[in-house]
Amino acid sequence: MLGAGFVDSALILRYTWGMYKNLITQLESLSEGVTYPVTILSNAAAILFNSLKDINWAGFYILDDSGNDTGTLLLGPFQGKPACMKIPVGKGVCGTAVARNETVLVRDVHEFPGHIACDSASNSEIVVPIHSGGAIYGVLDIDSPSVGRFSDDDKRGLEEFVTVLEKYI
Ligand code: SME
Repeated sequence: MLGAGFVDSALILRYTWGMYKNLITQLESLSEGVTYPVTILSNAAAILFNSLKDINWAGFYILDDSGNDTGTLLLGPFQGKPACMKIPVGKGVCGTAVARNETVLVRDVHEFPGHIACDSASNSEIVVPIHSGGAIYGVLDIDSPSVGRFSDDDKRGLEEFVTVLEKYI
């Protein structure tokens, strides 16, 4: 027989996955026929910021492709307070996600060495790398005022959201 804890986690997983599927459907229907990445990323930030509970920032940093800031993430479309505009690869949570080429989930940003504090209200964070043409294009970054806000289920949901986003940029 399954324990109550198992059933609870299975329900939470189904609920979280259902919610992310809904956000992905919104993203797909809004992005249909649009080819300009800034337009797509702007609505993607708005979808996430207005739908996810208990977050204070959602947006994108994009790897410089102009040659003016090589190896640097530049602030892209976002919702939330004004944020730092340049993050070198390897620095902060965003630059670390690019350097490792993997999602970085930070339970408590105050325990992450080199975390860059743009909004003092942020206490936890998740950063998902975005790819285009086989290379890293940038990152999705989401901050929360609550320690431990992002679960492994959020990680899976956001990675799927980014996989769909990659089809449009
Ligand atoms: N905390 C991030 C910087 C970006 S803001 O959270 C919007 C980092 O350490 O890379």
